[in-house]
Amino acid sequence: MPLPKAELHLHIEGTLEPELAFELAARNGVRLPYGDTGELSKAYEFEDLQSFLNLYYELMAVLRTEQDFADLANAYLARAAAQGVRHAEIFFDPQAHTKRGVELGAVVEGLWRALGSSEANHGISTRLIMCFLRDDSAESAMETLRAAEPYLDRITGVGLDSAEVGHPPVKFREVYEAAARLGLRRVAHAGEEGPPAYITEALDVLGVERVDHGLRCMEDPALVERLVRERMPLTLCPLSNVRLRTVDTLADHPLPTMLDAGLMCTVNSDDPAYFGGYAGDNFDAVRSTLGLDRERLRELARNSFLASFLEDDEELRAR
Ligand code: HPA
Ligand code: ZN
Repeated sequence: MPLPKAELHLHIEGTLEPELAFELAARNGVRLPYGDTGELSKAYEFEDLQSFLNLYYELMAVLRTEQDFADLANAYLARAAAQGVRHAEIFFDPQAHTKRGVELGAVVEGLWRALGSSEANHGISTRLIMCFLRDDSAESAMETLRAAEPYLDRITGVGLDSAEVGHPPVKFREVYEAAARLGLRRVAHAGEEGPPAYITEALDVLGVERVDHGLRCMEDPALVERLVRERMPLTLCPLSNVRLRTVDTLADHPLPTMLDAGLMCTVNSDDPAYFGGYAGDNFDAVRSTLGLDRERLRELARNSFLASFLEDDEELRAR
């Protein structure tokens, strides 16, 4: 039995497996510049975050209808359930779809079709987190927040993703203030490729309740001390870090040092179809390669529920 866990850092568009990409391409009459799944799989060699994002956005062309988003989310939930995921807080990138002419309503309603029946069908409770693309303008993010107002009963929080360097959190101060006024929870990617100062800014300027990745905090001992003191959750993604070359090899991953320092770490999959593994695979990898013992793995699983946006009673049921 895999350890029950919550997944807190998962981009639904990053769960698009090659087989489903081709199936949706055929269904929607979209031509992909790859002959078959084998040829596509060869494109999964990344140099850095940007080289991954290029493929990630390119393949999204196959996602067009409400049903496509429902199928995508259902496929993820089935795989996650098999790996012990009991609760998933799922990111989506509305701007990546609306800029291609796909209605926000089709995205949210499609995802909701799968999420609304997830407890019954997969035994997984869910939350939806809408991410702003940080390499798009703050105005576009604000327009996206306004456009999402009719769907806020389905959206728990906002996040910030895409190309990090050169797009510091402060760029989105007003958007996050507006999101807070709407009662939305706040998270942001920070310290994946960007410097430790972006983590501090996400905390102080955006008021985030979790830091996505946060890996580069390790370069700033005073920041580590603060994150420990505030019990600030970090949603780490070890296999992602290897594939995007944020760390040289999995054996070099600082997760054990981070846990020893008292940081509130969680382990997640980020974009599992692209990075070679779902949540349970990430747990297995850190166990076998980093030698984390049963107690450490249980701590990671416990942290994932504590750092989730579940209410206390729901959290107990999920665990
Ligand atoms: N980092 C930033 N943006 C992203 C990622 C990531 O790992 N995955 C999807 N969008
Ligand atoms: Zn991410």
